Amino acid sequence: MEQLVVINGSPKGKKSVSLKFVEYLQKKNPQTAFRYFNVAQDIRSYSRNPEAWKTLKEALEQSQGVIWVFPVYIFHVPAALMRFLELVREKDFQGAFEGLYTTCISTSIHFYDNLTHDLMRSALEGLGMHYIPPFTADQADFFNTESRRNLEWFFADFLGAISERRPVARRFAPLSVNSWTYIPGPSKEPIELKGKRAVIVVDKDVPGTNLSAMVQRFASAFTGKVDIVELEKLTIRGGCLGCMKCAFDHDCTYADKDDIRQTYLTLLDPADIIIYAGALQDRYFSSLMKLFVERRFMRTHYPFMKGKQVALLVAGPLSQAQLLYDTFDADVQVCMGHFAGAVSDECMDSAKLDAAIDTMACQLARYAIAGYLPPDTFLGIAGRKLFRDEVWGRYRFLFQADHRYYRKTGFYDFPQKDWRTRWQNFILTIRLLNPKTRRQMRNTLSGFMVKPLMNELDKM
Ligand SMILES: Cc1cc2nc3c(=O)[nH]c(=O)nc-3n(C[C@H](O)[C@H](O)[C@H](O)COP(=O)(O)O)c2cc1C
Repeated sequence: MEQLVVINGSPKGKKSVSLKFVEYLQKKNPQTAFRYFNVAQDIRSYSRNPEAWKTLKEALEQSQGVIWVFPVYIFHVPAALMRFLELVREKDFQGAFEGLYTTCISTSIHFYDNLTHDLMRSALEGLGMHYIPPFTADQADFFNTESRRNLEWFFADFLGAISERRPVARRFAPLSVNSWTYIPGPSKEPIELKGKRAVIVVDKDVPGTNLSAMVQRFASAFTGKVDIVELEKLTIRGGCLGCMKCAFDHDCTYADKDDIRQTYLTLLDPADIIIYAGALQDRYFSSLMKLFVERRFMRTHYPFMKGKQVALLVAGPLSQAQLLYDTFDADVQVCMGHFAGAVSDECMDSAKLDAAIDTMACQLARYAIAGYLPPDTFLGIAGRKLFRDEVWGRYRFLFQADHRYYRKTGFYDFPQKDWRTRWQNFILTIRLLNPKTRRQMRNTLSGFMVKPLMNELDKM
């Protein structure tokens, strides 16, 4: 009898929607034994209790494969699952996973589930596991016959890969880390922020590290006070529980029982410039930074970075971690801010790093003072359209606060409501039924597209 270990990364434990997809597979495959570990819900136990690791190790020794099942939480897996992966490394537990075949099952609304799975793949390949591509479901797929057929095929194929010991190509190389010490040079003339506010959110700020020196250099680039949020100094009770109590009125179940809500209200909301600073862990920041990012879900799909300039300070080889860059680029754009880029210490040259930090600070100040917001790319535009459709559609009863905000602020820009375009489409479609008009239009199409712009230029 085959045995599989299922690592459940949903903070909802047994109430996880994603987990039901695995339980479905279990019902369909009674010949396979499934051992479940709710690592996200029980993360405190994995932090403190060696017995939890012993039980997991025994199960892994007897199993042929591992399924990681989780929801997508703001571009990545829930912070508690990330913390579990950190603990695996801290406790030198990688050996228990090494060489095993593995795959992932997630549920989400497909909002950047691709980046989440890439980040997980990078982490699991880093543990030396043989990674089989995942099954990325929408919870509605559970009721769809075709999706169930695909899920069953996916699972059978996973078992096939294990039994045949199919060769698997690794996609993410290990991060090559070069250690060196950044010694900042004399500071330049500080930049006047002209009433704009800047805040730096610092992941784990260990004095004496490059990250710490980078944060100091950045903070001193501006005149006046720059707020620094040191995440390790905040009182934090836990990650997002996925309880959705925030959906009606943006009221988080943690309320002010810890420091997160007030940090957002008093420091991040009024800021014009936000810097996220941290050291690379896998291809993201630490689970602590993820927890902070994910707890902003108390505002669900509200574009909380509207008009803000956002950038990253990264200790580590950023050029090997495009995923980190992409997650923040997409997140900031969807939240209607401007992602101004990232500076990392991988240049291994103090003078160059000084210059890069100073230039970034100067640029952010210029952008903020000018109120500059360039057009979004596909990342922001497509992401917002997905939110718009989901909030307007099947989740309107739940995300009532989003619905009210979207209605008030013109988020609902569906083409169905654009009567001018609809009328124009109607008239032109009728006219183009005529073969002669159709021929003429074909020959003059490029001129037709540019004509309104030329007219506008002529008026100037
Ligand atoms: C804090 C939080 C963040 C979320 N972020 C995303 C996201 O970035 N993309 C997405 O498609 N769905 C997102 N969702 C929706 C969940 O992925 C979805 O509800 C999932 O089915 C929950 O699975 P679970 O019951 O197994 O925890 C988020 C939900 C929560 C609570």
